[in-house]
Amino acid sequence: MTKISLPQHSKLLQRDFIFGVATSSFQIEGDAAGREPSIWDTFCAQPGRIKDGSDGLVACEHVHHWQADLALIQSLGVDAYRFSVAWGRVIRADGSINQQGLSFYVHLVNALHDAGIQSHVTLYHWDLPQYLDDRGGWLNRATAYKFAEYADIVSRALGDKVASYATINEPFCSAYLSYEAGIHAPGHKNRREGRQAAHHLLLAHGLAMPVLRKNAPTAQHGIVLNFSPCHPASNSIEDESAANLAHVYHNLWYLHPLLTREYPSLLSKLAAEDQPTIESGDMDIIAQPLDFLGVNYYTRTVFRNKNNWFSDVPPTQPPLTCMGWEIYPQGLTEILVNLHKSYPNLPPVYITENGAAFPDIVEDGSIHDVQRTDYYQEHLKAVHNAIESGVDIKGYFAWSLMDNFEWAEGYTKRFGIVYVDFDTQERLLKDSAKALQQFWLEKKSRM
Ligand code: NOJ
Repeated sequence: MTKISLPQHSKLLQRDFIFGVATSSFQIEGDAAGREPSIWDTFCAQPGRIKDGSDGLVACEHVHHWQADLALIQSLGVDAYRFSVAWGRVIRADGSINQQGLSFYVHLVNALHDAGIQSHVTLYHWDLPQYLDDRGGWLNRATAYKFAEYADIVSRALGDKVASYATINEPFCSAYLSYEAGIHAPGHKNRREGRQAAHHLLLAHGLAMPVLRKNAPTAQHGIVLNFSPCHPASNSIEDESAANLAHVYHNLWYLHPLLTREYPSLLSKLAAEDQPTIESGDMDIIAQPLDFLGVNYYTRTVFRNKNNWFSDVPPTQPPLTCMGWEIYPQGLTEILVNLHKSYPNLPPVYITENGAAFPDIVEDGSIHDVQRTDYYQEHLKAVHNAIESGVDIKGYFAWSLMDNFEWAEGYTKRFGIVYVDFDTQERLLKDSAKALQQFWLEKKSRM
């Protein structure tokens, strides 16, 4: 079995560097009867939206198996577990609190606490209650205020037992993929809607931050953004400017207002009909001080010029993951160093997601996912290099604890370090999990 190792002096091996595994509610929980339907339930029910025609109604049945899953997490030797709360499990369509649903998370956080594992809670990982989409979803400004109420309820219940609260996971996906590219729920295709949803997601974040600080004063509060270095397909001026545009539109659209109180200047160059409505005072609400920035990283993206805009060029050269994404670990160092240099007020960073889907095959009860172990080895080294270059990085979470519902890809892509047999709900440690486990347990034994 391939081993994972880092230089002896690496900051990643120090006690205060946090390692964890990550999941999200809709992707693992199941127990659809215990919550309100979300936009993803609606989306899954529309023919042709999900590759294998599947849905999240059962998923990993985590709500039923959470105790065994927690024992599994504990056995890995991690310091922390990142998971999300399903909004519709906490607040019903009539506005009342679903006490049983809320208790699920209270029990989980208590049990993690007792096991000595930090809870890193994400409040919104894409499963907007359908009842809110019926009122306009993220196109309706009122949803941002509803989010702050929901954040209040959750943080009152979980309080400081949680190590960190992230308001929103990857607003890029909930805005661009969901309202502009049409490949995520609710599946709209409209540039103005994408920009408006982005603005309301950021507003939701900003409205929730003071609430979280009040209810959990000793916890860390922040947001999780996804980043992908944008490289030009050629060294032509046109392609280079296309890659720059993509970087601003995809990467900086969310971070820049959080750290500077302004959208990138590209906003004013968009056609008037594509510009979002921004009310006075919004930018001050959005730019709340952040205790941390969560960074999700998977790959780089290559762009070429298309009609003075950008168009991505899908990679064809191996090594690629099952998602068709290039394995490009140096991109993680590159983007972290780039952000560090561009923003003097960049808060401390957690790598909140990093991982890969590969064609896992069970052979005599084992999964020899050498490529995934190599992926983790290379990306941990990339994090190490970024720290050496001066970036303040506090922790790293592997995506994902276990195979789960991969959104529009359904169950066709396995991101877990733990294999899930979706017929029996059996969990099986892949070789990558064993390699990480050995690395994490060895790190602990150094203390
Ligand atoms: C980012 C998302 O946060 C997560 O839900 C998803 O499964 C991974 N990327 C892999 O695509």
